[in-house]
Parts: sequence; structure tokens; C-alpha cells
Amino acid sequence: MTKRLYIETVGCQMNVLDSEMVVASLRKHGYELTRDQQEADTLLFNTCSVREHAEEKTYSQLGQLKRLKKQHPEKVVGVMGCMAQKDQKLIFERAPYVDIVVGPGQLHQIPELIQKIEEGERRQMAVGLGRKDGSLDEIKRTHETFDPLRDPTMRPTPFQAYLRIQIGCDKFCTYCVVPSTRGPEQGRSPWRICDEARILAGQGCKEITLLGQTVNSYKHVGGDKTTRLAELLSELHEIDGIERLKFVTNYPKDMTYDLLHAVRDLPKVSPYLHVPLQSGSDAVLEGMKRGYTVADYRDMMARIRETVPGFAVSSDFIVGFCGETDEDFEQTVALTKECRFKNSFIFKYSERPGTKGAERLTDDVPFEVKQRRNNDLLAVQSAISEEENQAFLGRPVDVLVEGPSKLAVKKGSEDDQVLQLTGRTHCDRIVVFEGNRRQIGQTLPITIYDSTAYTLFGNVVTEEVGSETFSLQIV
Ligand code: SAH
Ligand code: SF4
Ligand code: F3S
Repeated sequence: MTKRLYIETVGCQMNVLDSEMVVASLRKHGYELTRDQQEADTLLFNTCSVREHAEEKTYSQLGQLKRLKKQHPEKVVGVMGCMAQKDQKLIFERAPYVDIVVGPGQLHQIPELIQKIEEGERRQMAVGLGRKDGSLDEIKRTHETFDPLRDPTMRPTPFQAYLRIQIGCDKFCTYCVVPSTRGPEQGRSPWRICDEARILAGQGCKEITLLGQTVNSYKHVGGDKTTRLAELLSELHEIDGIERLKFVTNYPKDMTYDLLHAVRDLPKVSPYLHVPLQSGSDAVLEGMKRGYTVADYRDMMARIRETVPGFAVSSDFIVGFCGETDEDFEQTVALTKECRFKNSFIFKYSERPGTKGAERLTDDVPFEVKQRRNNDLLAVQSAISEEENQAFLGRPVDVLVEGPSKLAVKKGSEDDQVLQLTGRTHCDRIVVFEGNRRQIGQTLPITIYDSTAYTLFGNVVTEEVGSETFSLQIV
């Protein structure tokens, strides 16, 4: 009998990928997806602990299940992901309607845990015991057995997929929960990664984004062979059907020439590098224990500039970190202007229990100041993004078409409807243009005629074949 699964995902791309795998494994157990909580037999919440706000949102959603569970006690409610690993039993206390708590390293147990609840057993919890215990092997086993289970319907689009190459993180930035929720850093074996990429290509996937918390620190030692990201990219580059390769998130100190040469020389690899700076002040970077200085980051930008033509760099920032003064913040603004990021994700510092930051430093920047710095930095970044985008006016770019941007039906029958479509350039810029459904999934040349800070607007370039003089025609 078909069962129905409702799944809600918050957090980073790792979580999006984990949800895809959980859905794939539950489909094997007869599940189909539903968007309706009322209709669902099982409801799963894939959670994030990176900031307090993300957790509070999840707890409030879980709180709203009270009525549903009263009316339908047979429905199974599960909490998976980073908050499950971080809060463990606390979840049952704060949200008594939850039946299952399962950490990111134990996802393969979900079908079995659901079955136990259905058979009448009480609350089930499967989480790692910590970074130094045997759960390391379990996390690895989970990913090795679980990662190749894929479900195209859960992807950003049918032709774009995530592929995990690195598990966990060992950097221990003082503000961050990830090393404790995702466990120690481990590189997956290159042959498993390539196998999975071939499966994805076989399913019609054209763009693969390799995932790791510090993806460019990727390293795998097998016998006497050490593989790093540059070699892995070369191997993946050989796979037919794959047109674009991206990788996130990068760590500034590991942006080596080897890797940048691979980005420059392998045409399928996007010249797009997401390398969070977090702060432009050495004192703040030291407090965050990021392991690099402003000078190191500048050196990295210089290496990128000299090596990769047409590159785009984007960043993350935390504003209002412990002890951040106005001068520290001004240095962040100045460095942002100097680096001219394509875009930046800006976050207000959120103290996380269990981190070194929470234990040893004081969260002393008032909320209003964090908010103001957030707005100020966003305004600086938006102005830069707008200027950088203006440089594309009149230029042709190759766009992988992702789907309708908003259904602006213009004319024609179902198949010929003119729609507003959206896609991305090789350097990850969003492009909106008019086209038709058949173009979704194709890579098209588009000429840009207008731009804002966040979007380029363009027209499809068509080659007029057969005319005496070769011409480009705008449709
Ligand atoms: N592994 C990635 C980041 C993962 S978390 C890296 O090292 O770059 C994504 C982003 O969330 C981080 O880059 C950081 O800017 C932000 N972040 C992490 N912990 C945070 C916290 N406690 N408060 C506010 N923002 C945080
Ligand atoms: Fe967190 Fe730092 Fe690891 Fe990124 S590198 S996941 S910010 S500890
Ligand atoms: Fe959140 Fe975990 Fe990702 S804490 S950002 S879902 S690794």
C-alpha cells in the first residue's frame, strides 16, 4: 500500500541532499511525496542549527503539529539533521509529539525507525555519540551506502544535482556548530564520487555541485595515492553528459594554484568561487579562529585574479561577532569594496551553545548594532553587485536554463507559450529572459540588455543559418 511522506527542509545544500536521499530510500519502502500534512503518514523535518533563528522556526513548526497529532496519533513525526544531533532528547521535551530523532550520520536508519514506531514502540532516537567515538565509522558507512541513492524529483531541477565529496568539518571556527553536528572531516573516495557522478549524468543531470564544508580542503588517501580537489575535478570532467561542475564551500587558505589552474583549464568547471571571508578585521578573524588573516585573504584574491579569467567570487559574513568594534566593521566594509564580491550572504552573529565562542567569548554587540551593520554591509554589497552586473550589458553569456521564473504567459498554445525563464551563467549569475518550455534544461546563448544587483535580463541569441552574411538575430 502506498504511504505518504511530507518532508520539510531547512539549512544548507547538505540538508537538501540529505532530504533527497531520505526520500529515495523511503520510496523503496512504498512512500510517495505529499505537500499536505493532513494527508501524510510520516512527517519529517530536516533541521539546521547554524543560527538560533533556524532552530526556533523548526520548534514553532513542531509546536503546530499538536492538533494534527491529537486527531491522528498514528502519524509518525521525525526530526532529522543537525538540530537532531545537537539537541537530541531535548527535542522530545520541547516537542512531545515527535516520535523519531535522527542525526545526519544515522539517516540510513530512518525506514527501520519509522517501522518500529508503526509497530507500537516508543520514541526512537539515533544520533552520533560525539566526535571521538565509533560513530565516525557509522557516519562514513551512512554516506557510503546512502549517497548513491538519488531521487531526481527532489533536486533543484532535474538537470542539476548536488554530490557530497566531503563529510564533516575539522576547522572548529569558534562560532560554528557544524563540526559537532556533522562530525570529523572525511573525504569520500574518488571512485565512489565518480561512480555517483556517472549515475547522475545517466539520469540526465548536466550540472553537478560538489559539496563539502571546506570543499577545497578535500583530500582522499587510498594506498599510496592522494587525491585532492584539482585531480578529482579532472576525473569528473571526463564524464559525458556533465556540462558544468561547481564546488562549495571553499576555505581561503586552501585555494591553491593547483586548484585554480584546474578551474582555469577545465572548461566544464565554473569560474565561480564561494569563499567566505566572514570579517575584514584581523582581531575578529582571530576571535573566530578562522585560521587566516586579511593579508592571507588578499593573497588568495590576487591568486584568483591572476589565474582565472572571468572569475566571480562570493562571500559569507558574520556581523556583530563578540568584541566587534565600529573600526573592525569599517575594515569589513573596506575589504568588501576592495574584493568586489559577486554577492555576499550576511548574517548577524548568533551565539550557539556548545561552541568555543559561547564558552569563552561574550556576545556583547547589541542586536540593534548587529542589525545596522547587517543593513550597511548589504547596501555596500548591493551597490557592488549592481556595478559588476552592469559590465554584462550588451554581452553574450551562456545560460543553463533552470525553469520558469514567473509564469508570464504571453501567447501561443501550451507548448509554444512564451514564458519568463530563469537560469544561470557559468559564473553563477541569475539571468531572466523570455523563451519557451522546450528550452528548459538547455544551455543557451543570451545577450544581456538590462541588469539589477541580483538579476541580468537578456534575449536568446539565435544564429540565422543560410543567409549570405552570418548574422546574430535577437528573438
Ligand atoms: N563551511 C562553510 C560555512 C557553513 S555555515 C564555511 O566555512 O564557509 C554557513 C555560514 O553561516 C557561514 O559561512 C557563516 O557566515 C554563517 N554562520 C555560521 N555560524 C554562525 C553563527 N553562529 N552565527 C551567525 N552566522 C553563522
Ligand atoms: Fe563551520 Fe568553520 Fe567548519 Fe565552516 S569551516 S563548517 S564555518 S567550523
Ligand atoms: Fe545548518 Fe547543518 Fe548545514 S547546521 S548550515 S544544516 S551543516
